[in-house]
Amino acid sequence: MEGIFLTDVTLAKKTGNEQLKNKMASISREFSYEDTAYHLPVSYALTGIAVHDRSTASDVFTKTGSNPLVAAECLLAETTAAEGKEPAPYTGFISDTVIRKLGYSLVDGSILGLALLVGTPKSAESAAAICRELQEKYMLTFLSGGVIPSLSSAGVKLGLDYRLIPLGSKPLHSVHFVDIVARVAMMFGGVSPGDTHRLLTYAAERAKAIVIVFPGLSDEEIAFVDGMRVLGFPILSLGEYESGDWTPATPSDVVRTGMDIKGIRVTVTAIPIPMACSPAFEGKSIRKEEMQVEFGGGRSPAFELLRMRNPGEIEDGKVTVIGPEIGSMKEGAAYPLGIVIEVSGKTMKKDYEPVLERRIHNFINYGEGSWHVAQRDLIWVRISKEAFSKGVKIEHLGKLLASKFRMDFPQLLDAVAVTLITDQDTVVAGKKEAEKIYEERDARIKGMHDNDVDTYYSCTLCQTFAPNHVCVITPERPALCGAISWLDGKIAYEISPSGANQPVEKGALVNAQNGEFEGVNRFVKKASHGEIERCSLYSVMEFPMTCCGCFEAIALMLPEVNGIMVVNREYKGMTPSGMTFSTLAGTIGGGAQTPGFAGISKNYILSDRFLQGEGGIERLVWMPAQLKEELKPRLVPLLAAKGHPDLFEKIADENSAATIEDLTSFLARVGHPALAMKPLM
Ligand code: SF4
Ligand code: NI
Repeated sequence: MEGIFLTDVTLAKKTGNEQLKNKMASISREFSYEDTAYHLPVSYALTGIAVHDRSTASDVFTKTGSNPLVAAECLLAETTAAEGKEPAPYTGFISDTVIRKLGYSLVDGSILGLALLVGTPKSAESAAAICRELQEKYMLTFLSGGVIPSLSSAGVKLGLDYRLIPLGSKPLHSVHFVDIVARVAMMFGGVSPGDTHRLLTYAAERAKAIVIVFPGLSDEEIAFVDGMRVLGFPILSLGEYESGDWTPATPSDVVRTGMDIKGIRVTVTAIPIPMACSPAFEGKSIRKEEMQVEFGGGRSPAFELLRMRNPGEIEDGKVTVIGPEIGSMKEGAAYPLGIVIEVSGKTMKKDYEPVLERRIHNFINYGEGSWHVAQRDLIWVRISKEAFSKGVKIEHLGKLLASKFRMDFPQLLDAVAVTLITDQDTVVAGKKEAEKIYEERDARIKGMHDNDVDTYYSCTLCQTFAPNHVCVITPERPALCGAISWLDGKIAYEISPSGANQPVEKGALVNAQNGEFEGVNRFVKKASHGEIERCSLYSVMEFPMTCCGCFEAIALMLPEVNGIMVVNREYKGMTPSGMTFSTLAGTIGGGAQTPGFAGISKNYILSDRFLQGEGGIERLVWMPAQLKEELKPRLVPLLAAKGHPDLFEKIADENSAATIEDLTSFLARVGHPALAMKPLM
């Protein structure tokens, strides 16, 4: 095997590589990471070998031509095994679960690329400015070494919620950045462990990653960072290095230069309000102590509503506040709030209202000092003290919403007007009105069945990572990522006809029980570039839909008990299949079709079509307790309506059945209907 060792190294890199090599020979203890199905992911991706001790480590090191990334990975894993994980804020190794959660944001455009910051900046302020620029340009940023304390000293908030992830105290902790890219390639990209060539091509073409280097790296660390060039990441140097193949830059142009080299394009327009606005802030929360005022959340009446108006009825960009402004509100108190958005546009339809309304949640969270949870009349909104001190008013939430709706739906909307109501009586009256409208909408959507429509919708967003993956979304089978319903797909297609969501004509029926249609097969074959010949919508066993990697849960057969179990992404424990979620997920992703396994959304479990191919929900034998609890309020009445008032209790969880043996006796004891069904295989 040809080495992927870089030959054009400067003296520092040469010395550093020697040092790494010597250290490799001194590895003495065994090591492994938790919550991953990919062992030491970089080594595993490059060679297919699971490294856990000195001999496997030296095997892989030799095989990769003394690759410095491999050396860094093994050495770091050994140190972690010896010394334990670093304390907070350092994250250390990032679990498979977290990466899968990120999956959807990597394809929907809310994360445009990845950045790594390593070393010790000369000035904390300029490092903070670089981070802010990365946040505003929709990048997900990883940090390692002296840059972390430096940012903390400048008061920068760190964590996944801020898209600034502090990996570890030493520059070598950057290996966790590389192991994420390696796992994304294996999880979503269908790269098989050991296929070095595909891994490198994948990393270079699909991983939009840049590396920014601050001063202070040792020879060893230089060698390691330089090793990342093999993955096609530009290395941007902020001084004190003989540049070699690194690109010299200054703090003010480094982000732009890096993104240009990697071809990462942003179209972000600033909104004229006194707070920053970016998806980078979407995950942050505003705690009670940080909050200036709040609305709703059970503390005061609140609601949100988006309505369509006729063109000409509304004035674009108009923001009205009815009731007191923030200045006259008591610090820390709860006030009523109504958010009413009126939109018009030639192609806007009434059907789109709920889909657009759901965006209010994202947009308010984009504000650095504003926070939003839930929807409709359950909303809970906060504005932070910090934002208040910068001059943010209720009115600015309106400006933010009006601008974001216009920016994100330019073809659809010609005018957007926002009214924010803080007057108690007006909110209470408006809320009553809104509740009537919610009910009407629910009645309309509830009535929709797969049989009522001739057209389903596809989604191929995840082809960015899983090139042959195709989701087919029907009214009764929401997408496996849980993010896209049939209505969303339909609207997305109408808004942007050449986008990732396309209509799929059902065509002639092939198999009613499994939900197989000629038209769907034809579409899937084409969209999967000929890889997948047949796809059944409702079966786990025969021609199930492909899996990309961002499924909320996995349904899989348990032939021993003639049933199907479901495990969700959040559940870390063992399942009766003998595998954890991450192990299972590792075996089915990448756009492959795996009979016996299906990636699903949680909501699909509540659909009448769930497990139709296998005889219905009566096949469901096991779910983690937490998922059962989450679905209980909706699942129990649904099972009762199907004539199984006691089935919920017959579905086992990790407490009642941890192993397949336990499960067998549990199901027999409770008389689970699956036992009497047609054999699964
Ligand atoms: Fe990916 Fe499917 Fe979700 Fe689209 S619908 S984002 S392809 S998982
Ligand atoms: Ni996906």
